[in-house]
Amino acid sequence: MADAAHPHVVLVGLSGTGKTSIGRLAAQALDMPFVDTDEAIEARTGRTVRDVFEHDGEPRFRAIEAEEIAEVLSAAAPTVVAAGGGAVVMAATRERLCATDTFCVWLTAEPAFLASRVATKPHRPLLDGDPVGTLGRLATERRPWFEEVADAIVSVQAALSTQPKPQAKARLADLVSDMVRMRKQRRSLDHVVLVGSMGAGKSTVGKIVASRLGYTYVDSDDEVERRTGRTAREIAKTDGLDALHQLELTVLLDALSSRSPSVIGSAASVVDDSVGRMALGMARQVVWLHADPEQLARRSAAGGSDHRPDVDPSLIQEREPLYRSVATSVVDVDDVDPNVVADKVLA
Ligand code: S3P
Repeated sequence: MADAAHPHVVLVGLSGTGKTSIGRLAAQALDMPFVDTDEAIEARTGRTVRDVFEHDGEPRFRAIEAEEIAEVLSAAAPTVVAAGGGAVVMAATRERLCATDTFCVWLTAEPAFLASRVATKPHRPLLDGDPVGTLGRLATERRPWFEEVADAIVSVQAALSTQPKPQAKARLADLVSDMVRMRKQRRSLDHVVLVGSMGAGKSTVGKIVASRLGYTYVDSDDEVERRTGRTAREIAKTDGLDALHQLELTVLLDALSSRSPSVIGSAASVVDDSVGRMALGMARQVVWLHADPEQLARRSAAGGSDHRPDVDPSLIQEREPLYRSVATSVVDVDDVDPNVVADKVLA
């Protein structure tokens, strides 16, 4: 029987995010059965998805899809399910996906990128005509529903746009499988992670949030210094930025795998690596403390910090979409009192 320790795994996300191929590979790796809901609907009705849409209309298709998902998730054997991109529009399905016996992974990418990937598939009548425009609209409409059901978020665009497709899909399937394994082992974890650029106030806010929750506070810079006897700035200078980022990633992974809940002020770099982004999906809450990049760059140029390496302003900009992709919430920090920022984090 599927339960919180052996959950069904449901991949949700818009068309073109690779739910079917990544799900199939993850199911193989996890030795679980696999169901693609579009394929199951076609097998059940003996008709194509396009035919159901065109002759019976979208509401009928949604009803069949919701029934199919309910049925698959009532199976005793924990199953990997690739859900159609619109499955989350049905409230009953969202409720089912939020149950504790279901681990739901939201695959994301920019609409224009997805549009470039969906051209050849015939089962997507909604995307006839103007795929970029439609995917943009659907992304906005469905975002709150994906957010509502997702236990973890995987941004697929970087892998799919930089690596040959088979390798990228295998890598993403590995990430999903790892997430499921971590979830099984560590299902009681309750960490709150603060992400964002250097100087956004993660330490100050993190300490306030931790003391209000009665959690331990883990600060990446302090932890780096405790482990090596050197500041982040010194490590960057002597060993290079890559070595520092690797160490910062290890600090995050260790903090996340501790069994007592903590508030973690993570290093700005942890979102650069897909392993870091994957691991963040395991936290209860990932809050992006968002500061205006220009203000941050000015502050850093005007003196910066003696324990952190200098920051490259273009890197701050480049990381913004990565922070957005991992964050469960975003709090603006410019000219806001840290106590008020902490209130917002806790809200
Ligand atoms: C749909 C997505 C499709 C398919 C149908 C409707 C949607 O599945 O269910 O065309 O509403 O987004 P994929 O997500 O597999 O493309």
